[in-house]
Amino acid sequence: MKVLLTGGAGYIGSHTTRLLLEKGFTPIVVDTLENGHREAIPSEVKFYNGNINNKELVSKIFIENEIGAIIHFAGYIEAGESMKDPLKFYNNNVSNATTFLKIAIKNNIKKIVFSSTAGVYGQPKEMPITELSPTVPTNYYGWTKLFFENILDSCKVYGLNNICLRYFNAAGAGYNLGEDHSPESHLIPLILKTALKQRESIKVFGTDFPTPDGTGVRDYIHVLDLAEAHIEALKLLDKGITGKYNVGTGKGSSVKEVIDISKQITNLDIPVIETPRREGDPAELVASTEKFQRITPWRPKYDIKDIIQSAWNWHSSNPQGFK
Ligand SMILES: NC(=O)c1ccc[n+]([C@@H]2O[C@H](COP(=O)([O-])OP(=O)(O)OC[C@H]3O[C@@H](n4cnc5c(N)ncnc54)[C@H](O)[C@@H]3O)[C@@H](O)[C@H]2O)c1
Repeated sequence: MKVLLTGGAGYIGSHTTRLLLEKGFTPIVVDTLENGHREAIPSEVKFYNGNINNKELVSKIFIENEIGAIIHFAGYIEAGESMKDPLKFYNNNVSNATTFLKIAIKNNIKKIVFSSTAGVYGQPKEMPITELSPTVPTNYYGWTKLFFENILDSCKVYGLNNICLRYFNAAGAGYNLGEDHSPESHLIPLILKTALKQRESIKVFGTDFPTPDGTGVRDYIHVLDLAEAHIEALKLLDKGITGKYNVGTGKGSSVKEVIDISKQITNLDIPVIETPRREGDPAELVASTEKFQRITPWRPKYDIKDIIQSAWNWHSSNPQGFK
């Protein structure tokens, strides 16, 4: 089956492209390359350089290829930036994506998997977070994702079925690919860049949370486990199953633990600066993935050490990221 990946040259999309190839699918990628990397897409994969809001380009993609399903990764991801320039996020994550949907529907597409986020839950009161937890995002990025989930649900009237995967913290690397966001805001690459002396120190925001060591706890999920979850989501859509599913490991790691493991793995000095909590940062965000695991054989294979080791393998051999 031909699967169109929007944003497939980005971090999670490029890993999923490789896994799809490995599993016998035919991935096709459309990406502006604004935040993605051409080198991350193998030469045998058909690549369209452009915006998903470009009606001619997107129509051409559907005409030239018999697309069986879409995985929609394209979007802006920086929660902090969304608070400074919310319309940039609404415009891309909602308007552009809706323009794209209209063309997909016109071309009779029936299946779409959407990259949603744990950010839709905001500051949940109960851990682990289930899909029944209230959705009250604390930043505009999270709101754009929640709106688009709702827009997708409305498209069932056109026969377009969706699965929204609510990712927790994607991390790690595989297939000689890695995480190379610019600017980078994710903890693990920032720690590893500090080990490589590309940054002076790593800031720990808050050491007085009600967690075992006082630092924030998050659920880190290996990007290869995430990629596998997309394959399972496609299989669910084939069976007519839709819905919203958390994708995490169900285990939390604190910032301090992540730094300590990184020190062990890199065997390098990682200077830390402790600073006060950032406003709105929850103490703990850990997924319940029971819902997804009840209906699929998907289980996360990698733990936090595997994640950091794989990220380090890539960062230490590609200190400047993608060329
Ligand atoms: N990285 C995470 O931890 C995480 C967590 C939760 C959800 N997500 C979601 O997963 C998806 C992928 O995240 P990522 O970390 O791979 O981000 P990324 O920035 O590496 O990838 C996104 C890709 O989309 C492309 N893009 C953006 N707008 C586009 C447009 N209008 N048309 C065509 N291409 C466009 C970018 O160039 C980039 O290659 C995003 O939707 C993000 O919101 C990521």
